[in-house]
Amino acid sequence: MDSKELKKKYIEFFKKKGHAEIKSSPLVPENDPTVLFTTAGMHPLVPFLLGQPHPSGKRLVGVQKCLRTGDIDDVGDPTHNTFFEMLGNWSLGDYWKEDAIKWCYEFLKDELKIDMNKLHVTVFAGNETVPKDEESAKIWKSLGIPEDRIHYMGMEDNWWGPPGEEGPCGPDTEMFVDTGKSKCGPNCKPGCGCGKYFEIWNAVFMEYFKTKDGKFEPLKQKNVDTGMGVERTTAILNGYKSVYETDLFKPIMEKINELKEKSDEKAERIIADHLRASTFILAEKIPPSNVERGYVLRRLIRRAIRYGRLIGMKEGFVSKIAKTVIERYKEEYPEVKQNEEFILEELDKEEKRFLKTLESGLKVFNKIAKEGNISGEKAFLLFQSYGFPLEMTVELAKERGLKVDVEGFHKEYKKHQEISRKGAEKEFKGGLADTSYESIKLHTATHLLAEALRRVLKRDIIQKGSNITPERLRFDFNFDRKLTDEEIKKVEDLVNEKIKEGLPVYRKEMTLEEAKKIGAQGVFEEKYGDKVYVYFIDDFSKEICGGPHVKNTKELGKFKIVKQKSVAAGVRRIKAILLNNSDE
Ligand code: SER
Repeated sequence: MDSKELKKKYIEFFKKKGHAEIKSSPLVPENDPTVLFTTAGMHPLVPFLLGQPHPSGKRLVGVQKCLRTGDIDDVGDPTHNTFFEMLGNWSLGDYWKEDAIKWCYEFLKDELKIDMNKLHVTVFAGNETVPKDEESAKIWKSLGIPEDRIHYMGMEDNWWGPPGEEGPCGPDTEMFVDTGKSKCGPNCKPGCGCGKYFEIWNAVFMEYFKTKDGKFEPLKQKNVDTGMGVERTTAILNGYKSVYETDLFKPIMEKINELKEKSDEKAERIIADHLRASTFILAEKIPPSNVERGYVLRRLIRRAIRYGRLIGMKEGFVSKIAKTVIERYKEEYPEVKQNEEFILEELDKEEKRFLKTLESGLKVFNKIAKEGNISGEKAFLLFQSYGFPLEMTVELAKERGLKVDVEGFHKEYKKHQEISRKGAEKEFKGGLADTSYESIKLHTATHLLAEALRRVLKRDIIQKGSNITPERLRFDFNFDRKLTDEEIKKVEDLVNEKIKEGLPVYRKEMTLEEAKKIGAQGVFEEKYGDKVYVYFIDDFSKEICGGPHVKNTKELGKFKIVKQKSVAAGVRRIKAILLNNSDE
């Protein structure tokens, strides 16, 4: 059964159960401002899940194009994609667990002919707010699923939503097919990433609304929101070992095969996934940029290019693959064909732009290579600032008979990921896990800004909050009035002066006591460990901080304050950016 037949069967089945078919909404959400992209079929339905009557009724069915970047590091494995299609059926305050689960069972068994002896399900184990979902477990048992194939799991696994900061959510029950091949031993169970259990369907019992301050309030109406991944289910139905063998990817993989010089399964999968996703984003007229959706797109395209080069693809391959994506999808999603020119042009432009960055990266590499083996930090710098995949650095080093500290690279990478997760999480939900050089630069700029404020305003400025995305920094501090234009200018000038001076940035490890003694700034209500890092910007600033930072302030470019406002009594907020992005 190919994907088209699966979709047809699903929609027909639920139509017979009284559902009205709805069309896929765009990837750019129309009804949910809390996320960058539609990550599930429920996004376009948010107002209706909250109680507004839907013009097509209380039972809906459809297929939705989705984009998730949270799983990007898993792309390359058999089942994870950034872009994918999701089938779903919804009850807007109509049927509840009994019908929802029974229909799942019936569809899997009678329509898809899945061997029900291989079906495993998970249900919510309960927590302080929401009780264990005994009801769903009972329904599964009544359908013949034995206890040992019903797994109880917590919030991490069996709770869905909200995808943004606030919205409808609830416990869910997930369906997995056991493919028989365990790669990780006897304790493997659904949710394990080894590939034994393929997750194919999720039914969410949406009866809560999570507020911005983290409270779960009961919804006016109880909804059912289900989602079945089209790629995964097609793979399972055909006994394929990955989604890349399905009709959804086949022509794309064939094109890649034609263009590559070397084989590398993971690289090929990443290229196929990322360029399919990029084509769909571009089809909604979003060009690559350094902000929000355009930034996600830029990262996807550039990542595909890096992997493409790794397997010997020649300049121009990006739009060639996208053309194949367009041909594959033009009937089901006419927007890809309608916007073909824009898609291909933008891809070519972005490829050219990125290759230029890579060229300057090669120059830096050559310099580094002259000094001998490549340290983890240097390999990471190449990755971060010039988009060099580690594999590429290793290969280049090898040609010169040099070694790369791969372990050191991973350490740097992890450290940085940890930091960016903390910094970027809030504003970048639905976006890529941010590992950009931009954020590092803005982080150093934040230290410069804090110190400049202290010196210009001649006050004891204390950080009240900081948030960094690749596009801008946001800094909250104790100050009770608007800064004058003159003060803003003085702060900007002082920061820019320190950038121009090319001050070294370095850190020292010390005890909290020592840090306090030398007058390092810090948010002392925060819990620091016994040992802390103090980041020095020469003798201009010293601040307790986990990093990472640039090595020298001259890397920052030009600093500019773009906004100031009051966020609370006595707290001011400044937003600032850096111009002359080296990533452009
Ligand atoms: N919203 C749920 C999911 O994405 C069900 O569609 O899994």
